[in-house]
Amino acid sequence: MWKKSWLRQGYNRVVGVVGGRKKQEFPVLEGHPAAQEHAEVALETHESVQSKMKKLTKEFRIYRWTPDHPNNKPVLQSFYVDLSNCGPMKIKAEDDSSLSYRRSCREGICGSCAMNIDGTNTVACVKPIVADTSKPTIITPMPHMFVIKDLVVDLTHFYQQYKSIEPWLKIKKPLEDGREYRQSPTDRKKLDGLYECILCACCSTSCPSYWWNPEEFLGPAALLHAYRWISDR
Ligand code: SF4
Ligand code: FES
Repeated sequence: MWKKSWLRQGYNRVVGVVGGRKKQEFPVLEGHPAAQEHAEVALETHESVQSKMKKLTKEFRIYRWTPDHPNNKPVLQSFYVDLSNCGPMKIKAEDDSSLSYRRSCREGICGSCAMNIDGTNTVACVKPIVADTSKPTIITPMPHMFVIKDLVVDLTHFYQQYKSIEPWLKIKKPLEDGREYRQSPTDRKKLDGLYECILCACCSTSCPSYWWNPEEFLGPAALLHAYRWISDR
C-alpha cells in the first residue's frame, strides 16, 4: 500500500506538470493518503460516468407538418433523447404529444409504424436506435406519399391496389365430400416467403417505378400478395 501511494503521488506530479488531470485535494482527508487516493478514484469514476452519460444524448430530427396550418412548410424538428433513460413512445409521451405517427403492435407484425429512418424505409418499432450520438437520426414519412400529418401518410391508394388483386381464396368447385380443401405440407411450403408480408408499404414506397406510375403499377406489395393467392391452390 505504501509503495502504491508513493507511486500515485509521483504519477500525480507528472500529470500535473504535463497539464493533464488536475489533482483534487480533499482537506478533510489530510493525513490519510489511502483515503485521499480512494476519493480521487471515486471522483474520476464519477466524472467518467457523467461524461459517458452526457454522450448518450441523441438528437432526432423529425418531419413535422400539420393540416391545421397548411401554408406552413414542413420542417425537421429536433428532439433530444437521453438514450440511457428512454423507452417506446418517449418523445410523444414526454416531449410533444402532438407528434403524429401510426403504431399498434410495437413488435413488427402490424406494419402500422412504417416510416423512413436515416434514408431507409422501415417499421420503426423494431428498428434499433443508432447509438452514435455524434450524428442525428433523421425521421421522415415514407417517400412520395401524400402526408396527412407529420409521419402519417395517406395509404388509401395502396390499400385499393391490394384490394384490386382480390386477396382471398376462391373455390371453383366445392369438394364432393363437402369438406374444406386440405393443404399438403408441400403446398404449404410454397407460401413461405409470401404470406409473411404485413402490408407496411415500405417496399412499394421505396420503389421508383411505383413513385412515377402509381396509377398503373400495383407495386411490389400488391404483386407479392397476388402471387401468394395464385400459389395457394
Ligand atoms: S413485402 Fe413490402 S409491404 Fe410487405 S412487409 Fe415487406 S416491405 Fe412491407
Ligand atoms: S407498431 Fe406494428 S409493426 Fe411497428
